[in-house]
Amino acid sequence: MSGWKNIDFVTSASELRGCPKQPWPEVAFSGRSNVGKSSLINTIASRRALAKVSGKPGKTRLLNFFLLGGNRHLVDLPGYGYAAVSKSLKEEWSGFVSNYLQNREQLAGVVQLIDSRHPPTKLDIQMVEWLREAEIPVLLVLTKVDKIKRGQRAKTLSSVRKALGMESAEQSMFFSSETGEGKPELRLQVDSILSGWRSLSSP
Ligand code: GTP
Ligand code: MG
Repeated sequence: MSGWKNIDFVTSASELRGCPKQPWPEVAFSGRSNVGKSSLINTIASRRALAKVSGKPGKTRLLNFFLLGGNRHLVDLPGYGYAAVSKSLKEEWSGFVSNYLQNREQLAGVVQLIDSRHPPTKLDIQMVEWLREAEIPVLLVLTKVDKIKRGQRAKTLSSVRKALGMESAEQSMFFSSETGEGKPELRLQVDSILSGWRSLSSP
């Protein structure tokens, strides 16, 4: 069952307690502010304004949950590395997002977004290292690929993978919300992460 025709916003949460309680697998979308997380969710959902998009970084401040096909969730995470937010807000961010990533049983995997125009930042590298240590499956997605020349793709991908210390078995792909490139592949990859989920509390 794919379910991509049936997707809706459910709730926003600012702490783990506010997240949906159903024992359904979910995939979270992570990356620095402005990398294109909310746009990507709209694109794979084929919905124009499901997740709020903004030219100004720092638009998504809460964890936003979307119900996919009646029994799975997609989670739009707030972006990190947004320079203009106050120190206390940064601490609040790292507190509740890292608590979510560490303790959310329903989390089947993370789609990590990197802007294909820029090398990964220190925070991107830390995030991927941290996910690997926590043994959370990661799919790397290079976003805004409409903005780079075709001839640069292979080199860009190999340098990003190298900077993130990715093993050859770890998956990666190109994506553009502008052109829709990568949409069918990303849906399949997300389905595959969701179907690989096993509840930690199940035997
Ligand atoms: P935060 O909520 O701040 O963390 O940002 P975000 O990662 O959700 O980014 P968002 O989807 O709001 O997009 C940020 C900006 O990038 C917007 O102006 C989008 O229109 C633009 N953008 C997103 N995806 C693409 C893409 O594939 N190609 C191009 N050219 N622009 C894109
Ligand atoms: Mg957003």
